[in-house]
Amino acid sequence: MKILIADNAGFCFGVKRAVKVAYDQINRDDNRRTYTYGELIHNPQVVRDLEDKGIKTIDGIDNLKENDRIIIRTHGIPEKTYKDLKEKKIELIDMTCPFVKRVQKIVNGYYKKGYTIVIIGDKNHPEVIGVNGWCDNSAYVIESVNDVQLLPYIDKACVVAQTTITQKMWEDSLNLLKLKVNELVSFNTICDATNKRQSSAEEISKKADVMIVIGGKNSSNTQKLKRICEKNCKRTIQVENADEIDLSIFNDNDIVGITAGASTPDYLIQEVINKIAINRKEDTNG
Ligand code: F3S
Repeated sequence: MKILIADNAGFCFGVKRAVKVAYDQINRDDNRRTYTYGELIHNPQVVRDLEDKGIKTIDGIDNLKENDRIIIRTHGIPEKTYKDLKEKKIELIDMTCPFVKRVQKIVNGYYKKGYTIVIIGDKNHPEVIGVNGWCDNSAYVIESVNDVQLLPYIDKACVVAQTTITQKMWEDSLNLLKLKVNELVSFNTICDATNKRQSSAEEISKKADVMIVIGGKNSSNTQKLKRICEKNCKRTIQVENADEIDLSIFNDNDIVGITAGASTPDYLIQEVINKIAINRKEDTNG
């Protein structure tokens, strides 16, 4: 058996930075209650570990008290939530990924100039909910090319992408959108880390007999990686950790490809590699 590990698997720059800052809060000695606004990353192990160390997850701000501290995750939050947090005098640690901040800024700027905003992405994803909050929740959110067909004709629109959608989704939607909008300004805001991770996964999955995608079940970028791999490798599985791997699925001569979503810590990737490599007693190539 041979193991191939995709380049750019696991934590991206934005997630690495947010996780580090969250762990930095654990040993502060000012006795402030510290929370993350929603699960910090889509990885249950990391979220549980932070909770065990006193950094709890909350989904709204109603129960926060003055001087509490809140960490904003990479996905960002709507403009109004910043105002609400300020009014409540909550200390903010803003870990919105700079690439997401850029999308919020574009949307806000064009909204103020009178453009209709279109976001290509998942309407229930916190990043999209946050971005939509920078244009008074007025955006059309496109989840599939069919949604583009349902749009009315628009005079002028600005279109952006959720940072983790696939390039194909962007291009297919944009091509149709051009037929629906008189004056269209487009910003392909898929982040570079996403592009690179998806291309590496695609490349490895073409060579693999079995493809393992490691990442949280509720992680949308992991789901997309899985879909990309499935196109090239029928035996693609998604796991959250090494315990979920059933070694009996492997054949002795299999080439096993491994990739991981943006919220998957290195140690979980390593545990998966170890489980397969040790049990099959074969070499690992990066
Ligand atoms: Fe930021 Fe891209 Fe990661 S937008 S959080 S670097 S996937």
